[in-house]
Amino acid sequence: MATNITWHEGAVSLTERQSLLGQKGFTIWFTGLSASGKSTLATALEQTLLHSGISAYRLDGDNIRFGLNKNLGFGPDDRTENIRRISEVAKLFADATTIAVTSFISPYRQDRESARQLHEAAGIPFVEVYADAPLEVVEQRDPKGLYKKAKAGEIKEFTGISAPYEAPEKPEIHIKTHEVSVEQGVQQIIDYLVSKELVSADKLVKRA
Ligand SMILES: Nc1ncnc2c1ncn2[C@@H]1O[C@H](COP(=O)(O)OP(=O)(O)OP(=O)(O)O)[C@@H](O)[C@H]1O
Ligand SMILES: [Mg+2]
Repeated sequence: MATNITWHEGAVSLTERQSLLGQKGFTIWFTGLSASGKSTLATALEQTLLHSGISAYRLDGDNIRFGLNKNLGFGPDDRTENIRRISEVAKLFADATTIAVTSFISPYRQDRESARQLHEAAGIPFVEVYADAPLEVVEQRDPKGLYKKAKAGEIKEFTGISAPYEAPEKPEIHIKTHEVSVEQGVQQIIDYLVSKELVSADKLVKRA
């Protein structure tokens, strides 16, 4: 633990930064089983936002484990540390007035709650999106062949098979990916963001 450290305040407040840059920064936090559609939806959402001239940036589970979190595994403590670091990084992106779009299984309710609290304490909105599909469906999709390996005992502590998934109780957005298309899922998110004035409808309409 570092001691003798002092926070150095910037010269530009969060609201001034947002008004100078003409958009709000916040975090969209996807959670759900592997193959529930987090990365697919996050990628399509990021594209829609960028094509509308709105700054957005994805932080994706596997990608982050190639770099920042390459020293972490999948046991409970490492999963918690994984999410803690991502929460901090997402908050930094959001504070810098970008829309941080995270896609991590983030199976523990308490970890997601900590991510939310970290954002809310800094006055940064946190939008939890539950990418939801039944286990039978995600096992069937299995785009990376992970469920097959997990069931064969080749992957230990695999969420949904040999590790728990705690579904969100009150996510801001609940997308049933076995019932709607990717485009409909993205639209559900966009509609929410516009209704909460987190993105400007004008920008989306102009570039659509
Ligand atoms: N409505 C939908 N929304 C999202 N994905 C869908 C939908 N319908 C089918 N799919 C398919 O489901 C799969 C979801 O895989 P994806 O990699 O996005 O999952 P993930 O939640 O990011 O998994 P992981 O936690 O392993 O990274 C893809 O093959 C995608 O094409
Ligand atoms: Mg993914």
